[in-house]
Amino acid sequence: MSTEKTMKVAIIGSGSMGHGIAELLAIAKHEVTMVDINEELLQKAVEKIKRSLDKFVEKRRIRKEDAESALARIHTTTSYEQAGKDIDLAIEAVPEIMDLKKKVFASLDSVAPSNAILASNTSTLSITEMGKATKRPDKVAGMHFFNPPHTMALVEVIRGDSTNQETINELAELTKKLGKTPIIVRKDVRGFIVNRILGSVFNEAFWAYQRKEGTKESIDSSIKYTGGFPMGWFELADFVGLDIAYEVGKILYEAYGERFKPCSEVIDPLIRERKLGQKTGVGFYDWTKGRPRIPFNLLDEYDVDRSWSVAANEAAWLIYDDAADPVDIDTGMKLGTYWPSGPCEYADRTGLNVVLSKLKELHAKYNMEMYKPCPLIEEYVSKGWIGKKAGRGFYQ
Ligand SMILES: NC(=O)c1ccc[n+]([C@@H]2O[C@H](COP(=O)([O-])OP(=O)(O)OC[C@H]3O[C@@H](n4cnc5c(N)ncnc54)[C@H](O)[C@@H]3O)[C@@H](O)[C@H]2O)c1
Repeated sequence: MSTEKTMKVAIIGSGSMGHGIAELLAIAKHEVTMVDINEELLQKAVEKIKRSLDKFVEKRRIRKEDAESALARIHTTTSYEQAGKDIDLAIEAVPEIMDLKKKVFASLDSVAPSNAILASNTSTLSITEMGKATKRPDKVAGMHFFNPPHTMALVEVIRGDSTNQETINELAELTKKLGKTPIIVRKDVRGFIVNRILGSVFNEAFWAYQRKEGTKESIDSSIKYTGGFPMGWFELADFVGLDIAYEVGKILYEAYGERFKPCSEVIDPLIRERKLGQKTGVGFYDWTKGRPRIPFNLLDEYDVDRSWSVAANEAAWLIYDDAADPVDIDTGMKLGTYWPSGPCEYADRTGLNVVLSKLKELHAKYNMEMYKPCPLIEEYVSKGWIGKKAGRGFYQ
């Protein structure tokens, strides 16, 4: 695959993510074929792309003729054979079900040229497993866009156990050419970077709520107005969808054990009652009259450093496991979720010794794995690498 030329790309699944990725690639002058299970879904996807392009034209972000030629570069089919012929790249965006993804990868492998890269937009599933369904695991990687793909600036590029460096380089290069920032996930770890760190702060907040240390309003108020995050954790979980947060939480628990022990008492009843957040009108909050109002006057009731400390701890685990670098972790959280700062930057600014003390204090109080300091933080602090003040922490 060469990202220099106009590429032929197949997008598998034309739903929320697939149609957005198709639009993005077509604007960047690539020839795109979207595949879905029936024509009706494909036509709906084309309509959505058309409406989105019209908006871009209205806002003068692209010229009318460029929008028209982008639309003309998007083709549709229900046939893998037709879509996979002559492609340089396929990006899979079908529902988050491993068996389905494996079938898609096996089908793509049988129709695509042997040099084509096959990428998955999965949020959490194993790239290695998908690679095993093909005869080219070295050319299978994760390319995790954020929603909506045409406006979010971040893409996680994920290496499966057998993915070669060339594949990673090419996907990172393509990401940059699409005007986005790639962050590299060097190992096929569950939750990759952004969802894993987000999972850690969600869990901390859910457990704090369950222990009645704060209401959802007071925790969200503190996160938003004291912490400077764009949404409180309960509001964000509702926004993402509690079913998705629940599934990701389950996968993180399976992968990392007690450190991600889910707070079942808080989330399970909502899942059972199909109170899934914004999309069903109710979750932690009532969304029927729009975004919930988070009260300003409760901004001191939850200690935001608790969220920061578990996030910095999870960042340390990612580095300790050699899955990611501090700069990619920080970039991921700032561009993928609009955090005001990355967790490594926070720790370096605050002092890794302060973060370590906070984690130890919380661990002693609650005896939960999520607060147990990662050995990397202990090691850095013992070496005097406590952050900015010392000239070395997560960063030098
Ligand atoms: N929605 C998000 O916010 C988001 C963000 C990042 C990543 N993701 C990931 O992207 C992937 C897709 O998510 P989505 O939200 O776009 O899902 P979606 O349900 O909106 O779309 C999936 C599409 O795939 C189609 N499909 C199903 N089986 C197919 C098959 N065999 N061949 C071709 N098409 C098939 C469906 O008909 C549907 O149109 C998932 O892996 C998800 O985890 C989603």
